[in-house]
Amino acid sequence: MGVALELTMSLTHFRSADQSARATLTAPSTIQSLQDKKTQGRPIVALTAYDYATARLVDEAGVDFILVGDSLAMVVMGYDNTLPVTMDEMLLHTRAVRRAVKRAMVVADMPFGSYQVTNAEGVANAARFIKEAGAQAVKIEGGASRIDLVKRLTDAEIPVMAHLGLTPQSVHRMSGYRVQGKSVTAIHHLVKDALALEAAGAFAVVVEGIPTEVAQRITAALHIPAVGIGAGPHCDGQILVLHDLINLSFSAPAKFVRRYGDAAALITDAVNRYRNDVEGHQFPGEEESYHLGKEALAALLREEGKLKA
Ligand code: KIV
Repeated sequence: MGVALELTMSLTHFRSADQSARATLTAPSTIQSLQDKKTQGRPIVALTAYDYATARLVDEAGVDFILVGDSLAMVVMGYDNTLPVTMDEMLLHTRAVRRAVKRAMVVADMPFGSYQVTNAEGVANAARFIKEAGAQAVKIEGGASRIDLVKRLTDAEIPVMAHLGLTPQSVHRMSGYRVQGKSVTAIHHLVKDALALEAAGAFAVVVEGIPTEVAQRITAALHIPAVGIGAGPHCDGQILVLHDLINLSFSAPAKFVRRYGDAAALITDAVNRYRNDVEGHQFPGEEESYHLGKEALAALLREEGKLKA
């Protein structure tokens, strides 16, 4: 942290306000910088990404952290829920994202089954994300039942992002993807769990699919950042699934999604125009083709008897 602090100071020290803002944008995102954003009331911006190309674009656009979410099971692999994705698949995608990202913090989502069986297995699997894939933190879903694991991970120097509310890995227990925390009892549980996760060492909490009023109370109760998805505007930041943001998820968007682009339309149009061009002998054109040099062409034609020796 000392080195990062020095770097930020030396980059920003004798510069104009505009240059300082740019220098801050190029400083790597850390647990401390996320914490500072909460303290200063500046919203944390986060997105998912799962491959080199999109992670590069998302990072270059200046988000604070990139989650290699287990949502890749659905939006990249085409499963109905997040449960089937494996450790090996998550590691492969986390490595691809790591190679792309220069500034944002990379958080790896621990897949279902990789931390629910024993804490020892959870720590060993989390360590793989840090050691083998270059993630800076892991995310795990759940409340009270994860407190010991969060302590063990924190003791092992593995930063943990917690995830409360609508936890997609609990889809069967929840009887589907339903907004959570609607009764006073459920709200008390959520706030208690959030505080316990913070006390256990979590550096941030994702709160998903809960009423705005509940997210607001959790955010106010916590010292660590609460990052919302479907949790209203009063969180310390927001995260969305990239494919939802750009219309690549092939499903009607959830109420909390805002579409900022239409990658489906862009790709469909490009592929249709390519198909038309190939079928209409319009592609490749002269400028997209290679030619033999004069001598090689003459030698070839001679060999084929099409040019006299
Ligand atoms: O896997 C995921 O994309 C997530 C976010 C929705 C928070 O967990």
